[in-house]
Amino acid sequence: MHTILKLDNISKSFPGVKALSGIDLSVREGEIHALLGENGAGKSTLMKILSGIYRPDAGQIIVNGIAQDFHSYNDAIDAGIAIIFQEFSLIPYLNAVENIFLGRELTNACGLLAKARMRKQAEQLFDQLGIDIDLSVEVCQLSVAQQQFVEIGKALSLNARILILDEPTATLTPVEAEQLFGIMRELKLQGVAMIFISHHMEEIFAICDRITVLRDGVQVGVAETASSSIDALVEMMVGRKLASSFPAKPASVEWARIVLEATDVRIHKGDTGNSFALHEGEILGFAGLVGSGRTELARAVIGADPVFHKQVRVHGVAVTLNDPADALASGIGLLPESRKTEGLIMDFSIRENISVNNLGKYRHRGFLIDRSAERQATDVMIGKVNIKAPGAHTRMSTLSGGNQQKAVIARWLNHHCKILIFDEPTRGIDVGAKAEIYKLMRALTGQGYAIIMISSELPEIVGMCDRVAVFRQGAIVQMLTADSITSTEVMRHATAGKT
Ligand SMILES: Nc1ncnc2c1ncn2[C@@H]1O[C@H](COP(=O)(O)OP(=O)(O)OP(=O)(O)O)[C@@H](O)[C@H]1O
Ligand SMILES: [Mg+2]
Repeated sequence: MHTILKLDNISKSFPGVKALSGIDLSVREGEIHALLGENGAGKSTLMKILSGIYRPDAGQIIVNGIAQDFHSYNDAIDAGIAIIFQEFSLIPYLNAVENIFLGRELTNACGLLAKARMRKQAEQLFDQLGIDIDLSVEVCQLSVAQQQFVEIGKALSLNARILILDEPTATLTPVEAEQLFGIMRELKLQGVAMIFISHHMEEIFAICDRITVLRDGVQVGVAETASSSIDALVEMMVGRKLASSFPAKPASVEWARIVLEATDVRIHKGDTGNSFALHEGEILGFAGLVGSGRTELARAVIGADPVFHKQVRVHGVAVTLNDPADALASGIGLLPESRKTEGLIMDFSIRENISVNNLGKYRHRGFLIDRSAERQATDVMIGKVNIKAPGAHTRMSTLSGGNQQKAVIARWLNHHCKILIFDEPTRGIDVGAKAEIYKLMRALTGQGYAIIMISSELPEIVGMCDRVAVFRQGAIVQMLTADSITSTEVMRHATAGKT
């Protein structure tokens, strides 16, 4: 098959970091090519070079046999290459049609906007891809997935023949991800080449033809998906065999001490009340489909959202939690799922971001903070979650996406809470780092911490949790323990009653 794109010997350094050394990559027409590697391996940097955002220090980009010299993103577009950004580049208050034709609006003979014609073309474009989107509403009213589809439509209308998707599924629900894959399969038939970045092996095996693996800025191999295996790829990625990613669960335990007890939590008046107890040393899973009410219950309990009714006890004592600050004062921390809303300060160093006392106004205890001890604790945290960076002084903005995520986790661990609620803690994190975070969670429970883990990833629910509360349509419908915690059981209860 025809090779549409070749990257030849690409290198790129940033001050203090050699991000890429001599990378080769070739992509065929109609191929979905995965780019795989640990956090910080250089995937996004390579894609920014390919789309004209960064210039390489050395090496060549060859499209259809012709060497390119990109000075801007527009140069890449002209060569038929488009990148779907994580932070979308759509104008929120324009509709899909206006966004697609922005800056190159069609006009009629009198110079007026040919609105109907533009709308028709957009409709055709989306129809071809099997995308159903309301073209008349502002794009900010569309779901994240739909906005992503508009981005893809826009790229195609610019005649993109090579489409770059950098962790497109990180913000999608499983159903939306399936829709995206449907679109990608359709594009494949039309001969569009795609470079797909994801930390989810199942996704890579489901849709990709070949896989190029990067490690520490070096290309370590290319594999055909059909003749490869997850184990082989992981070994290539991390340079060693990875032991089972889940630490052993403690043998059957009598959960002695309840640290957190929530009773009859009703968010709205007519709701059935949800109740659960969390024990010292335990990892309690909140499982269920996206939208089944897991995050809502956690937020209601800690007072992040208003509730109609609830009773909460911490270490046996009734507490009033009207605000996350109250929860914090009771030693409960919620680590929310999105690092973007989590307010990392991009111009600050890693150390500052972790130790920054963003919750300081809620601390009324009146004792002095020992600065150097705090600093030391921060550095220990950086090591614990294994942030890969030149040093603690490195600016947040230069970290890879996954390493920023690790910093969010480190920050929260640094807040001295002994009851921790992790909401999708491993989203955007590579396999090696995931294993480290799991180990860390187990180490914490071993020291008397108690953890609630909200997760949509069944393997991690099954591999990590001592008990699992399964949610369906806003209610805890089943509490699974010990051997009854299996993917089938979780899914059965999460979906029962649905077709
Ligand atoms: N603008 C920049 N300035 C300095 N260093 C940078 C910059 N952009 C990236 N880096 C560094 O280059 C290396 C590769 O980062 P990159 O974002 O390409 O990784 P990645 O493979 O996309 O990781 P992830 O899976 O976490 O998204 C990292 O060490 C990162 O800190
Ligand atoms: Mg990246």
